[in-house]
Amino acid sequence: MDVESLKAEAGISACSYVKSGMKVGLGTGSTVKYTILELGRRVREEGLEIVGVPTSIATEVLAREQGISLRELDDLDGLDVVIDGTDEFDPEFQLIKGGGAALLREKVVAQSSAKMVVVADDRKRVECLGAFPLPIEVTPFSSGSTLKAIQAVLNCKASVRQGSDGNLVTDNGNFIIDAQTGPTISNPSQTEADLLHIAGVVQVGLFTNMCDVVILAGADGVSVLEKEDTS
Ligand code: A5P
Repeated sequence: MDVESLKAEAGISACSYVKSGMKVGLGTGSTVKYTILELGRRVREEGLEIVGVPTSIATEVLAREQGISLRELDDLDGLDVVIDGTDEFDPEFQLIKGGGAALLREKVVAQSSAKMVVVADDRKRVECLGAFPLPIEVTPFSSGSTLKAIQAVLNCKASVRQGSDGNLVTDNGNFIIDAQTGPTISNPSQTEADLLHIAGVVQVGLFTNMCDVVILAGADGVSVLEKEDTS
């Protein structure tokens, strides 16, 4: 099966977590795109009644095109569920996100959601996070100094992500620094805390202790992986 079909399978399967009356965080990326398309179809054809909170301008545009009602996060008293993609997930359901540069809004929305459902194909499953370069959103002010500080904290090379016309600028007016840690992030919460200690860092693409469910599509079909409740 090709990757695009796997993304579609995972994205569409996640819609089973959405019922009428729910407030739904809408993630960003090429996998959750299929969730948004399917939710839009259910709104138009089946009368599904939801309000969505998008995690990026791209998702906002797509959701509007699909006829999904959108609201500001601040107008709602929390969300029932967020569905989003990931760049990697480890056995503890810790995530690297931000390959699409939407990590800040994605994390704010995830923190406001009672449940986080992640949609992924099986290339995203890893034993240890970090083969995917870790995205870190930083202020443009003195981003060179912030880059050096990040390299010192992580003891690895890092670079400012480039767009079509110079440094890529996020929806929030910031830059993204990608850190080449390699698959070494064995304590994601500590790494996240260390990076957040740097003044120019706005947010880190490590989503720790947020994900509850991974909908994983592979050659053998779709699996629903639920995080063991350790509380
Ligand atoms: C956006 O910033 C990211 O966090 C995406 O959710 C993540 O990169 C997964 O995207 P794909 O589903 O396109 O791989």
